[in-house]
Amino acid sequence: MIRLILAAALAAPSVQAHPDVGKVPVQEGYGGAVATVDHDASKAAVAVLRRGGNAVDAAVAAGAVLGVTEPYSAGAAGGGFMVIYKRGKVHTIDGRETAPRAMTATSLEGIPFEEAVTSGLSAGVPGAVAQWDLALRRFGTLSLKQALKPAIEVAEKGFVVDQTFHNQTAANAARFKDIASTAKLYLPGGAPPPVGSVFRNPELAETYRQLAKHGPGWLYGGRLGAEIVATVKNPPVTPGATRNVRPGLMELSDLRAYRALMREPTRVDYKGLQVYGMAPPSSGGSTVGEALNILEALPKVGLHEYLEASRLAFADRNKYVGDVPGVPLEELLSDGFAKERSCLVGERAMPHPAPPGEPDGSYSGCPSPAGAAPEVTTEGPETTHLVVADRWGTVVAYNLTIESTGGNGIVVPGRGLLLNNELTDFTFGPAPGDPNLPGPGKRPRSSMAPTIVVKDGRPVLAVGTPGGSTIITTVLQILVNRYELGMSLPEALAAPRATQRNTAATQAEPEFLRLHRAELEARGHVFAENPEIGAATGLEFLGRGRIQAVAEPTRRGGGSALVVHPVP
Ligand code: GLY
Repeated sequence: MIRLILAAALAAPSVQAHPDVGKVPVQEGYGGAVATVDHDASKAAVAVLRRGGNAVDAAVAAGAVLGVTEPYSAGAAGGGFMVIYKRGKVHTIDGRETAPRAMTATSLEGIPFEEAVTSGLSAGVPGAVAQWDLALRRFGTLSLKQALKPAIEVAEKGFVVDQTFHNQTAANAARFKDIASTAKLYLPGGAPPPVGSVFRNPELAETYRQLAKHGPGWLYGGRLGAEIVATVKNPPVTPGATRNVRPGLMELSDLRAYRALMREPTRVDYKGLQVYGMAPPSSGGSTVGEALNILEALPKVGLHEYLEASRLAFADRNKYVGDVPGVPLEELLSDGFAKERSCLVGERAMPHPAPPGEPDGSYSGCPSPAGAAPEVTTEGPETTHLVVADRWGTVVAYNLTIESTGGNGIVVPGRGLLLNNELTDFTFGPAPGDPNLPGPGKRPRSSMAPTIVVKDGRPVLAVGTPGGSTIITTVLQILVNRYELGMSLPEALAAPRATQRNTAATQAEPEFLRLHRAELEARGHVFAENPEIGAATGLEFLGRGRIQAVAEPTRRGGGSALVVHPVP
């Protein structure tokens, strides 16, 4: 009965194409809250909450809308990680894209990274739809069919192109031109859609409609799956294009074998709080958690300590974390290991690169450094994150992605659906012993770090962000800003950022450099400018049922925070 009522309610027009009236980065109130990077997605989620849906229903509905309005960051042919607090327990769902069974440790070796980015070879078996379905069945009240309705409506009626969408299209124009199906959809008339125009994706609306009708099996072994496989194996390259677009290895059997997985969350106890995150194949939970433990072991915490703890945690992440058996997760997150690592944090920045530690359960004093760690590559602004809380206190932090901004650049012909290039998150090799080399059925290591903070068994805060491996440092810096430096959550999200990932130079935003460069350079830090790091979303429970929803004020054009019953 409840499902029928909700179905009827969701059938009513709810999300229309119009400019961003009512779009604000911070809103407070009662009855549930949402923050995403996109106003249409936030409106869809809050509409689900208002009609009696729960936070998981709203998160899936918003995720599907983001597949329409933020198609270069996320979508049904992508994947993601979802952290859910419900009735005193934290659950996580791994919807990570997966390598086909034909992929081996050497499949990406020697391929120029830029060529792999736009290829069938880099497309992982999509996880998003299986994840949505599992989340709804385990924790939601809506069916997949009901949860897809707002997205179908937005795809059909269209959304207003903003500067971010225009810029992202323009940045991808050269490779989009080389793929006939992608050029047809995203370069109408041969150019990126102008700012202020209404962009419709009727083929994606029909794809969602068919998914709603047939269920996930339509993708995982059915007709849509067959079309994805055909596209991956024979990318629709524009006649005359000279780009080397490699075919992929995906088979229909890989799609049939795909499963979204329930996993135990990571957890660290930090300053009387329990911080929950995503376990491998993401390195988000372990790296944020280890860095927080290192900070807690230090006598004082400021920006220098934040950078040093992050440097050390990345050294360990790079050596130990991947989709492999035997990741020493418990030891990486132990207080003993953190104390040993914290010994290396001095008054000056430590020499580069920081070596990984030995998370072996035997910790004594300060170990002498040994062996260098690999340096991580620079990462872009890809991916997206959303948070939702409902009136019953269920909270969702959800990172979703198609990897590069624009994924692999290949739209499935006739389906309006952009494929992911998540397999570029593997180490290409040769790199003996690297836990993140490709393998059959393996999930590439992620940095996604959807995070929920709990105190005395109740959720107090949720946060996450896009940004490749800078996701980890942005989440960490926001937690440091909030819990060490005394900022409110909106201040913590807005504050200028720096990211240290065991690289020689710390990347930092211009405003961070203006404020902190001199002081930190005097302590041995070396900086490189990065114009913009992350685009976070979060929420905080302020007491007596009051919730604060928070999105970026300006980065990536600013996000949208909404609550069900706002108060001034
Ligand atoms: N593709 C971004 C990540 O998984 O970290």
